[in-house]
Amino acid sequence: MDSARTRTSWWRDAVIYQVYLRSFADGNGDGTGDIAGLRRRLPHLAGLGVDALWITPWYPSPMADGGYDVADYRDIDPLFGTLDDAQALLDEVHGHGMRLIIDIVPNHTSTAHAWFRRALAEGPGSAARERYIFRPGRGPRGAEPPNDWRSVFGGSAWTRITEPDGSPGPWYLHLFAPEQPDLNWDDPQVRAEFESVLRFWFDRGVDGVRIDVAHGLVKAPGLPDLGSLDGKLLEGAHREDHPHWDREEVHEIFQGWRAVADTYDEPRVFVAEAWTGAPERLARYVRPDELHTAFNFDYLMTPWRPDRLRRVIDSSLSALGQVAAPATWVLSNHDVARHVSRYARPQPEGPLRSLSDLKGPADLDLGTRRARAAALLTLALPGSAYLYQGEELGLWEVEDLPEDLLQDPTWLRSGRTDRGRDGCRVPLPWQGDTPPFGFSPEGSRARTWLPQPEAWKSLTVAAEEGDPSSMLELYREALRVRRAEPALGDGTLAWESDPDSTLLVFRRAPGFRCVVNFSEEPAALPEHGTVLLASGPLHEGRLPSDTAVWLKD
Ligand code: GLC
Repeated sequence: MDSARTRTSWWRDAVIYQVYLRSFADGNGDGTGDIAGLRRRLPHLAGLGVDALWITPWYPSPMADGGYDVADYRDIDPLFGTLDDAQALLDEVHGHGMRLIIDIVPNHTSTAHAWFRRALAEGPGSAARERYIFRPGRGPRGAEPPNDWRSVFGGSAWTRITEPDGSPGPWYLHLFAPEQPDLNWDDPQVRAEFESVLRFWFDRGVDGVRIDVAHGLVKAPGLPDLGSLDGKLLEGAHREDHPHWDREEVHEIFQGWRAVADTYDEPRVFVAEAWTGAPERLARYVRPDELHTAFNFDYLMTPWRPDRLRRVIDSSLSALGQVAAPATWVLSNHDVARHVSRYARPQPEGPLRSLSDLKGPADLDLGTRRARAAALLTLALPGSAYLYQGEELGLWEVEDLPEDLLQDPTWLRSGRTDRGRDGCRVPLPWQGDTPPFGFSPEGSRARTWLPQPEAWKSLTVAAEEGDPSSMLELYREALRVRRAEPALGDGTLAWESDPDSTLLVFRRAPGFRCVVNFSEEPAALPEHGTVLLASGPLHEGRLPSDTAVWLKD
């Protein structure tokens, strides 16, 4: 690869590590992760061998939704540090030869954002109100919400305000929590503001941006009722003309963003969080004049079944290939149950992202074995991969957090029926035998913002380091081999197994094969030269159940 290509297309095959900042490492001893903690732990990430970091929102925020309720897009929340800390982090990340991607939340602000405060204060008909989506209520005295849209976190997507003079006012739209009012993307000021925010961070050297809820910015004119359509994030089939998800008009916004990114000497890159339902729809976000990559949630939600995985791999590669965009592969993030736990139970036929999609008690040994195999499968596929912090340690979903400590708005808004996403957001264990496992500096008394399970003592970085059978050493080795092998990263694959086989075998040129055994019985390996890496020990040269191997001709 020549240096010009490396410089401009690093994102085509990068391994990007998601830092959920609140839970990565605490530098100041208050029990919440921050920039200082992340800076101190950067050697872990450089040593792991990832190419880039994506950091979840770090802006000033009342934290009604873990920072996805942004009060100021050009500053850092004191909980996490200062703008100077952010700059120092960026420089250090670059010093380690890695890149930094930040998270931008354009669908909504926080109710604490200056714009929303002004919208409330300046009253009906003001330009300030135009930046959000206010509508009169329906029914007698406007006491009913303007339409039937639902919040992703549960309940109506509308909240009624009281006017400054004390009279009952209109309702505002929030597809997420009431503290997250949706912006009106028909307003030119909203469009100009976000292009300016992008420049603010790109000028500081940030390498890329993850776009939160990229598929939600534009709403259908007139805000028609959903009727029989679902308001939840799209999964499965695409719904034509959904009134607020994946509307055609969003693409023009992102073409404008791409133009901003391309003005930089080393063009900045985008990754879209877009729940679109079908790979062809996702591909529309990554056309050549638009965003660079998008998370592949179809892959994330696929159960541990060979036919399903093969189908989603093929459909992703073919849809993205049509627009010459690389695929991304992701197993976990801060919104879904950790994959060790998802794979630890009998696998469903349909999509799998929350534990409520599953039945039966968890067999974490089974889940871990499958997660190890999934890591090798994922890292061998053509394109780029996202790792979610802690998956390199084999962390599982914490399913028994005490109810009174749950923080995800989903818990209360679902009427305490859905425990939400806190179980995948528990602070990382770094070292030692008892919580906080080195998450906070030695001697600090504050409790971690969510409690860590005692059993994580065997899953700390220190416990796994140097143990060849640990998840950490598997990831390190896989990333090392991935860098060294010319066959891995961007490119194509060719299947060598039958479509209905319980053994997945694919080949990548030159001279590389990945084999995953989904059957209960050990399987014979195809002819090969050397075993580059296996997710578990081979038995007399055969590949055990739920195990993957990388082979070299
Ligand atoms: C995205 C984020 C999620 C957040 C939501 C609202 O889906 O990943 O954590 O709650 O957007 O901003």
